[in-house]
Amino acid sequence: MKKIRSLSGMLDLFNDSDASNSAEHIFRVEKKLKNIFNSYNYNEIRTPALEETDLFKRSAGDVSDIVNKEIYTFLDRNGKSISLRPEGTAGVIRSIIEKKLDSSSNKFWYIGPMWRYERPQKGRFRQFTQAGIEILGHEEGNSEYEMLSLICNIIDKLSINNSIIKINHLGDPDTKKTYCDSLVAYLSPYKNELNQTELERLDKNPLKILDSKSENTQKILKDAPSLKDFLPKENIDLLNSLKDTFSDFCKIEIDYSLVRGLDYYSGFVFEALSNELGAQDAFLGGGRYDVLSGKLGGKNLPAIGMAIGVERLASISSIAKTQEKIVSFITITSKLEPKAFKMAHHLRSLNKKINLDVNLANGSLKSKLRRANKINASHALIIGDDEITNECILIKYLDDEFKEQELVKFDEAYEIYKLL
Ligand code: HAM
Repeated sequence: MKKIRSLSGMLDLFNDSDASNSAEHIFRVEKKLKNIFNSYNYNEIRTPALEETDLFKRSAGDVSDIVNKEIYTFLDRNGKSISLRPEGTAGVIRSIIEKKLDSSSNKFWYIGPMWRYERPQKGRFRQFTQAGIEILGHEEGNSEYEMLSLICNIIDKLSINNSIIKINHLGDPDTKKTYCDSLVAYLSPYKNELNQTELERLDKNPLKILDSKSENTQKILKDAPSLKDFLPKENIDLLNSLKDTFSDFCKIEIDYSLVRGLDYYSGFVFEALSNELGAQDAFLGGGRYDVLSGKLGGKNLPAIGMAIGVERLASISSIAKTQEKIVSFITITSKLEPKAFKMAHHLRSLNKKINLDVNLANGSLKSKLRRANKINASHALIIGDDEITNECILIKYLDDEFKEQELVKFDEAYEIYKLL
């Protein structure tokens, strides 16, 4: 029979021998991120993975690649067009408008799977995890500083080497429009040198051409008008001040050609990159999106946010495993022994720092001890028919070959276990 395989670009997470991709490492990274978000006093928000397709069309922009080419869209049983979320921001804003929170200030974090039908390659998946934050209800200013503080903290706490944060300012929507017009005027005579995608972008989303991977296009762009010449002084001053404030902690570069793939940004934008990631080098990105709430039918709500690609971040994070103490609980009774299970259950409540591995197999004591050594258990607690009758347990010190095993009463075993 033909085997059923996973879909292309969708990963199974388990404890792989490749440590940077292993479930354990990724979950540890997620936990660290949650701790950082909570330490800034953000609240968790969870929104559904499926939303009405129009939400993403109206937010990301129906000229963006994400909505045009990458979104997973289908009809539900009622014929309604719904989509798997390609990103988390739109759902958060939809949710707060629905809850009538669009005139208050809030700070949220979220973590969860996102879907984009992209060509899979190293660091680019069709299902991936984003951890994001959204700061709602604050005009440009303090929240830009808080955002960079958070990013520098993440880079530090997750031990990310060789990273750089690129920052830019897209001005207000009028500045953005004037700049786009002048870029189109400059590029129009080069139309026959642009590829199909770039020609489409020239028409619909000219800023994205600045992102082109084509060497020839980049050569043409060398003499193109620079966004810097269109930005008011206060926008440039903000970029310089952000850079000065955080340069002691992270490498920061102002890049006037930095643009983002989603349509909803204006004002401050940023990406963090690492040259250890290969071609897909951005491990987080975000910016200000003051117009989004209005576009989705809510009140005007100033907002700024960012999302981290968790798999990418984990692949370059060298946070080490904290050494956990493992104790192996071995039963060698011939029959099912509820008393032993009750005891294991009680032990767990006595010392929460220990991972108690109950060996469920039917094998011999020798094979069970072999497994205990394999999982690096420091102790084995062994209980057989005689021990149960005499209310005793045998403790074997696997991490100390000179220490004699001891047979102790249940109560004494509990006291020892508390102190392990
Ligand atoms: P984004 O730049 O599209 O922004 O995605 C953020 C991060 O998600 C990227 O920097 C990357 O690390 C990761 N990512 C994106 N696509 C993939 C993929 N196919 N495979 C693996 N990782 C990927 C947003 O999504 C915005 N919602 C961020 C934001 C929040 N802006 C404001 N608030």
